[in-house]
This record gives sequence, C-alpha cells and structure tokens, in this order.
Amino acid sequence: MGARIIGTGSYLPPKCLTNADLERMVDTSDQWIVRRTGIRSRYHLAEGQDPAIMGIEAGKNALNQAMVSPEQVDLLIVASNFPDMICPGSAPFIAAGLGLDHAPFFDLKAGCSGFVYGLAIADGLISSGLFHHLLLVGTEALSRVTDWSDRKTCVLFGDGAGAVLLEPAPPGEGVLSSALYGDHDKALLLHLPAGGTRRPASHKTVEAKEHYLKMEGAGVYRSAVPMMEQATREVLASASLRLVDVDWLIPHQANIRIIDSLIQHLDFSREQVIINLDRVANTSTASIPIALDEALRSGRIARGDLVVLTAFGAGATYGAVVLRA
Ligand code: COA
Repeated sequence: MGARIIGTGSYLPPKCLTNADLERMVDTSDQWIVRRTGIRSRYHLAEGQDPAIMGIEAGKNALNQAMVSPEQVDLLIVASNFPDMICPGSAPFIAAGLGLDHAPFFDLKAGCSGFVYGLAIADGLISSGLFHHLLLVGTEALSRVTDWSDRKTCVLFGDGAGAVLLEPAPPGEGVLSSALYGDHDKALLLHLPAGGTRRPASHKTVEAKEHYLKMEGAGVYRSAVPMMEQATREVLASASLRLVDVDWLIPHQANIRIIDSLIQHLDFSREQVIINLDRVANTSTASIPIALDEALRSGRIARGDLVVLTAFGAGATYGAVVLRA
C-alpha cells in the first residue's frame, strides 16, 4: 500500500504585483527581472490578512474536489517556513478554518522542499496504516518576511498555498518512490537571522533588518541544479524507472534559468515541464502544489501520467517524489 492524491487545491491572494510596480519601489527593471529570473508578477496577501487564510482556501478546494468531508480527515500536515506564529505555527489555524475538529495537525519546516518532504512523509504514514485521509498543505506568506528595499530578494518571492488530499492506494498507483536529502554545510545560504531563540527579537535586531530573509543568491543558484538533478535521477532509479518514462516534471519554481539548466542536464524538453513562476514567482513550499493543482485542473496533466516533483531550499534541503497522477 502507498498513497495517492485524490484532490488538489490552490489559492493565490487577489493582489498582483507586477515588475512595473517593483520598478517604482526599488532600483530595478522589468527587463532585468525577466532576463535573470523569468518572473513577471507575483501575488501578495493584503495587509492585516491572516496567512492561514491561504492554506484554508487551498485545503477547502482539495477536500471539495475529493468529495471528502472535514470529519473524514485524520491528519493535517502544514509545510511552511514562515508560519502565522512561531508558536503554535500555522497548522492549528488552518485546522480551525477547515473545521478539522478531530484531526491532529503539525507544522513541517524543511525550506522550499517542505512540500516534497511532506509528501514523502505522508506516503510513509499512510503506508504504515496509521492514517487514511491525510491533508498536506504547502503555504507561504513570503511578502511578510521580505525586505522591500532589497532589490536582490524582493523581486523573487510571492505568496500562495497549495494542498493535496491523500488516501491509501494499491501498489503501482500514486506515490511510487521518494528521495530526500540535506546538506547542512549550506544551512545559511537562505536564512532569517533573528526572531528565533538564537537571536530573539529586540530593538537592535529590528533596526538591523534581521527579521527579513537574507540570501546568498549565487550560492543557492549553484547548488540548485545538481541537487534537483541528483534527486530526480535517484528517485527514478529507486522506482526502477528511466528518465524517458517521465511525462511531466514539476520543479520548484525559483528561477527559469535554474529550471532550464536542470532540464538540459536531464535531457527533458520545456514542453514536459510545468512552469508558472512567470505569473506567481517563488512561493516556497506552495510552489509545487500550486503548479500541480493548476496542471491537473487544466487537464495538462492527465490521471495516470508519470510525474516527478523536485525541490531544493533553505537548510539546505532537497528531494524528489515520483508519482502516477
Ligand atoms: N534589479 C537590477 N539589478 C539587480 C537586481 C535587481 N532586482 N538584483 C541584483 N541586481 C544587480 C546586482 O546588484 C549586481 O550588480 P553589480 O554587478 O553592480 O554588483 C548585478 O545585478 C548582478 O547580480 P547577481 O547577484 O550576480 O545576479 P545573478 O545573475 O546571480 O542573479 C539571482 C541573481 C538572485 C536572480 C540569482 O542568483 C538566483 O536566482 N539565485 C537563486 C535564488 C533562489 O532560487 N532563491 C530561492 C531559493 S528556494
């Protein structure tokens, strides 16, 4: 027994910020952003709106599509790096909004690979027989931790959420294999220095802008392609599959140049790759489930297609999952 996806959902907040909007905020240009990243717009939560709302909407869509009621869900996992509150996270607020009155819930923090990690963990928990209907949400309000005066990071990120509902599946259906990795030597390539227990919030940390994401862009860039390539090759090998068997690749949506380089290494064509970063930018843990939901709902990915999901992110974490849609 493994796990298969029986419902997907996603949510993007209504406020759209284009590259032209960013040109008015920092010293940048639409041309620079498109050429270096492929991003043209991103969505942001309105001021004062709770981040949990995004996970709730994505989760509702997944439950509705699967025709599963909140009472039938017996575990909620929320992959998020910047939860509503450091304690107790985002999961309890999303559980409340979905009316999951009897299900346990927890937050999972694994960088932008959080959804891929969550799917591998969900597959293991369902395979073990511990849970039947498991809701996995990837949600991120990156606009809340972005330094809007730093052109090196503020052009890259967006807000959003995606969700999948999983249930047990016979062998050969749903998740076929997972491969997860970590490289702790790269822990600080992407990090938020203050507000945790190592460096609690103080006037000094706020003045030094240490509550915003700091990124070593070139270091992340150099690591991303080999990480996702290794994970993709190894997850396929562990399922006795070949690169030519793959119908669709859904990579973490960070930068079109990273994606193009990855598919060149794997000998895939752009037509086999789901890309929405031009519209939604990098939404961290939400990026793969949003892309998956959009591709399934539009009919681009058909039920039964072989799909590889692969991600890298803060930590540094990376990994891949291969599944039959
Ligand atoms: N607009 C205009 N110029 C910008 C800019 C912006 N938004 N951001 C940076 N620049 C400038 C830099 O200041 C630098 O100028 P300088 O040469 O005068 O110092 C120049 O552009 C080149 O900067 P560099 O950082 O070398 O660009 P790059 O080609 O490496 O692209 C990233 C930068 C961030 C797009 C790229 O490194 C990247 O995508 N990294 C991975 C990021 C990522 O995926 N993060 C999420 C991980 S989950």
